[in-house]
Amino acid sequence: MLKGVSKRALSISPSPTLALDARIKKMRIEGVSVISFGVGEPDFDTPINIKNAGKKAIDDGFTKYTPSQGTESLRQAICDFYNRKWCTQLKPTNIVVSNGAKHSLFNIAMVLFGEGDEVLIPAPYWVSYPEQVILMGAKPIFIKTDLTTDFKINVDILKDCITDKTKALILNSPCNPTGIVYNKKELQEILNLVVQKGLYLIVDEIYDALVYNGIEYTSVLSFVSGNPDLMKNIIVVNGVSKTYAMTGWRIGYTISNEILAKIIGDMQSQSTSNPCSISQKAAEEALSGSQEAVKIMVEAFQKRRDLISGLLSEIDGVKLKKPDGSFYIFPDFSSFINTSFKGIKIQNTIKLCEYLLEEAKVGVVPGEAFGAPGYMRFSFATSEDNIIEGIKRLKEALKKLN
Ligand SMILES: Cc1ncc(COP(=O)(O)O)c(C=O)c1O
Repeated sequence: MLKGVSKRALSISPSPTLALDARIKKMRIEGVSVISFGVGEPDFDTPINIKNAGKKAIDDGFTKYTPSQGTESLRQAICDFYNRKWCTQLKPTNIVVSNGAKHSLFNIAMVLFGEGDEVLIPAPYWVSYPEQVILMGAKPIFIKTDLTTDFKINVDILKDCITDKTKALILNSPCNPTGIVYNKKELQEILNLVVQKGLYLIVDEIYDALVYNGIEYTSVLSFVSGNPDLMKNIIVVNGVSKTYAMTGWRIGYTISNEILAKIIGDMQSQSTSNPCSISQKAAEEALSGSQEAVKIMVEAFQKRRDLISGLLSEIDGVKLKKPDGSFYIFPDFSSFINTSFKGIKIQNTIKLCEYLLEEAKVGVVPGEAFGAPGYMRFSFATSEDNIIEGIKRLKEALKKLN
């Protein structure tokens, strides 16, 4: 062990999804044809109007420091986007722009969580929520959900988890990894309880545009238009990474009350300063320019969702809920646990995923990474051909288990 490393740093676990990605990349370099359902990013290119805005920023010399909380014009574009869509009355002083939504979440954790705090996290959860809470010395309290409850929490379950140490609930809708979307009534009930108990409701809306036909999506901020006081309790996290295929540009943001936004901005000013000036110009174009490319990407994701849901549900022993949003599906593979291959026992979904990578050359993330053993996460941010071939290989490998 390296001398002098802090207890805090030693508490972190590396991202399991990035670890899988690194392993697949290595296999590909070695010439192995791997089909990956592991990636958490759109396979589309950033739309041309957005790329051009980035190029123009460079040509115009927009390459210097900006205000650390983000440019006034990008923060105004974020407000316009939300005010138009959800009838809010946000001002740039409600917004802090950061280096991706993960960084926005990290800033919130830094500002709100500390020793003695409990933070409620529904499981299955996105991998970084508990790690960030632990890093701050606070305690993640998991609220277990499964397929039988459509992976959703409700107020009765929530009430039982709240103690006098509870600081916040982190909700992710549409959800990574389950693809569930909370409807207006469910959100309203959760929000009412959170307000009654004086907690923060942190809603990660990074997949808000990726919702499929017939599904109603509501931003928690829609409740604020009739009741501005709710901003005392609500913090929204969003960004351009997923909706606009801009994962590498690193732009995310928080929407909160002005006092909290000022504290988050001040804290960011002492850590990263502003997010990349060029990316901020590109993000401004993403939010205020044509949304045509988003429509095309969502249509493609919807077709792939239908395809992968159909193929996986044909496999004996697999149970699933068709995702309403995001680009992930999270089927239950627990019936394959305790099978074996050539005498070697497959005791859990970590082992099952290792087996599938070795035998079928198919990359899938085990549910353990999301606090839900027995399940596996498939990203359908990949081509229809890859989905067909990948599930075919997977089926063949599963047949060899006994
Ligand atoms: C639920 C969720 N929140 C936040 C993020 C982070 O997004 P960004 O790339 O903008 O940091 C991700 C990325 O995988 C995610 O799945």
